[in-house]
Amino acid sequence: QKEPIHVVITGAAGQIAYSLVYQICNGEVFGKDQPLILHLLDITPMLGVLQGLVMEIDDCSIPLVKGVVTTDNEEQAFKDADAVFLVGAMPRKEGMERKDLLTANVKIFKSQGTAIDKFAKKTVKILVVGNPANTNCLILAHFAPSIPRENFSCLTRLDHNRAKAQIASRLKVSPDAVKNVIIWGNHSATQFPDVRSATVNVNGTDTPVYDAIKDDQWLKSDFISIVQKRGAAVIAARKLSSAMSAAKASCDHMRDWWQGTKENEWVSMGVVSDGSYGVEKGLVYSYPVHIKNGRYSIVQGLPVDDWARELLDKTQKELLEEKTDALKATSSE
Ligand code: NAI
Repeated sequence: QKEPIHVVITGAAGQIAYSLVYQICNGEVFGKDQPLILHLLDITPMLGVLQGLVMEIDDCSIPLVKGVVTTDNEEQAFKDADAVFLVGAMPRKEGMERKDLLTANVKIFKSQGTAIDKFAKKTVKILVVGNPANTNCLILAHFAPSIPRENFSCLTRLDHNRAKAQIASRLKVSPDAVKNVIIWGNHSATQFPDVRSATVNVNGTDTPVYDAIKDDQWLKSDFISIVQKRGAAVIAARKLSSAMSAAKASCDHMRDWWQGTKENEWVSMGVVSDGSYGVEKGLVYSYPVHIKNGRYSIVQGLPVDDWARELLDKTQKELLEEKTDALKATSSE
């Protein structure tokens, strides 16, 4: 039997974690033959809630779970970590300015970055889910200089899945018939959901989405804003933010990173930019990626016309502003 891996979930008492834990424990992410030890981190007042979660994990009686650590201590949480889901973050409260939110999160991700740098394995794979996910990831990477840049990522897979679902529903096909959609940039309303290279399998043939839908106007306007605003639409209806779909997307993201993507298929991941597609190096920007042997590579050579350039730049501009504000907050800390 394989050695257990150490899997960390922060914000473990929250609603996304509640959907995430079972899928991870059941082998959906790291494989049905991969035992694991869970490390659950939350803030001190939530330790009681974590005890309840542990009781439920016990009651699921899943053989892959070889141990569960619950803690409010970052050293204990990140010790020997192989994979980390950073879900916990400061939520936006009423009347809170964007700057206040950034400052509160900078504090959390600075502290967790420093702890990951010291205590996690150097091979650790890190997924930031907590918002603002891209900039939290940038701050985390900044304070964990000994971890390779390619081990940091943030979640835009939920947006990717939302884009697939919208195309599938419009064409009345199954979502898995839709391939190679892309989310570019920030996990925010400036993101660019792009289906110019996407295909859909209709009666056994892969057809470009633009040819199948035959409504360029919809694809270039309504489709984009539906995906950009989907998170807000869920909040308006549910009075709570997306949790089940966010947990599912987090599992998709980590599973593909761990186990690889299919040939000729790509997925969207927020990663530390290497300058591809004219994006500032070091910014955490969502790109289409292929994954093989646990390593991603950014898909190169996709067409960028004037229309797309403007959208790629708009979301980059927002990320550059977030970066400036966040780095300012680190120095005033
Ligand atoms: P939640 O409020 O239910 O849970 C958050 C948990 O994090 C709470 O238990 C809280 O005590 C904990 N927490 C706060 N500070 C912490 C710290 N310093 N260390 C450890 N734990 C800490 O929130 P939910 O719904 O689970 O969402 C979590 C985050 O995910 C939010 O920031 C949300 O905006 C974000 N999100 C991101 C998505 C994406 O696609 N990137 C999609 C949906 C949500």
